[in-house]
Amino acid sequence: MEKLMRTFFLFLSKNRFLTRMAKKYGLHFGASKFVAGETIEEAVNVIKDLNSKGLTVTIDYLGEFVDTEKEANEMADNSIKAIQAIRKEGLHSQLSLKLTSMGLDISDKLVLHNMRRIMNAALENNVFVTIDMEDYSRCEKTLQIFKLLKSEYKNIGTVLQAYLYRTEQDLNDLDDYSPNLRLVKGAYKESAEVAYPVKEDVDGNYKKLIATHLFNGNFTAVATHDDTIIEYTKQFVSEQQIERDLFEFQMLYGIRSERQLELAKEGYNMRVYVPYGTDWYGYFMRRLAERPANVAFVLKGIFKK
Ligand code: FDA
Repeated sequence: MEKLMRTFFLFLSKNRFLTRMAKKYGLHFGASKFVAGETIEEAVNVIKDLNSKGLTVTIDYLGEFVDTEKEANEMADNSIKAIQAIRKEGLHSQLSLKLTSMGLDISDKLVLHNMRRIMNAALENNVFVTIDMEDYSRCEKTLQIFKLLKSEYKNIGTVLQAYLYRTEQDLNDLDDYSPNLRLVKGAYKESAEVAYPVKEDVDGNYKKLIATHLFNGNFTAVATHDDTIIEYTKQFVSEQQIERDLFEFQMLYGIRSERQLELAKEGYNMRVYVPYGTDWYGYFMRRLAERPANVAFVLKGIFKK
């Protein structure tokens, strides 16, 4: 049943019509639990609150189905505005973005042009940028672009997904770049040809990746809500005497907020991924796919109104 619901919500997340409708009618159906608002001003207020509780942030301007050069340029403009807001408001925040939003599916020239505009603004304002990882079909290209930009800018990192068979090799290949990596389980619907279909195998690979990356002395963001993985990381860093400024935990805004505060109080670096913008639908559907309890929460919200 859980698998079926996951497939259903991941299928819905790719629906262009619903994406357009959602954009038009605003944040609804409990999406504001996971999305910090539609404007940068709303997001800034959320970030200030999180910062005041000892949590750092990475902010993401949401955007799905970017098909034209104009849309890609606007997405990049909005990411630059977010960078400027971070500096102006003195926020403890980095920036996250998706290459498809910057024009990855349109042309290499466009995505690189937009990324360099963003990276120049980020460098000037001392903001770190993480390139999120999207579905398998974009993985190779994303890594190529990351490598190119990493040779030009020091303040850039990316994401590797534990569910992909290829990730172990990617981690080894990237080691020459001493990259700052966010390690995640993976959020997209992938076939058994490219990704571990069984959760235990994903978790096993995840632990292996965390250990390898930390052992290599590279900055590691362990982005999960899974206590088993969190406890594994805590034990590993303690045994290997790895300094706390070499790793951090990351979680999504609105998910396990109490646990986020606990980890911060225990003295761990804890970063919250804060998405905002009108294009919330696809992101919201992926969160529903991850956890049936989130669906119950949404249904309660709908029937309460
Ligand atoms: P999983 O979904 O296996 O959950 C494990 C356990 O965590 C659950 O059994 C439960 O105990 C607990 N849990 C989970 N959700 C909970 C909730 N709402 N309340 C209480 N307990 C809960 N993916 C991707 O493909 N590309 C990317 O770039 C990113 N970026 C990213 C950034 C950040 C900061 C995070 C946290 C995640 C991502 N992801 C991502 C998403 C990631 O790949 C994955 O889909 C989700 O994090 C869900 O997987 P978990 O590791 O949390 O474990």
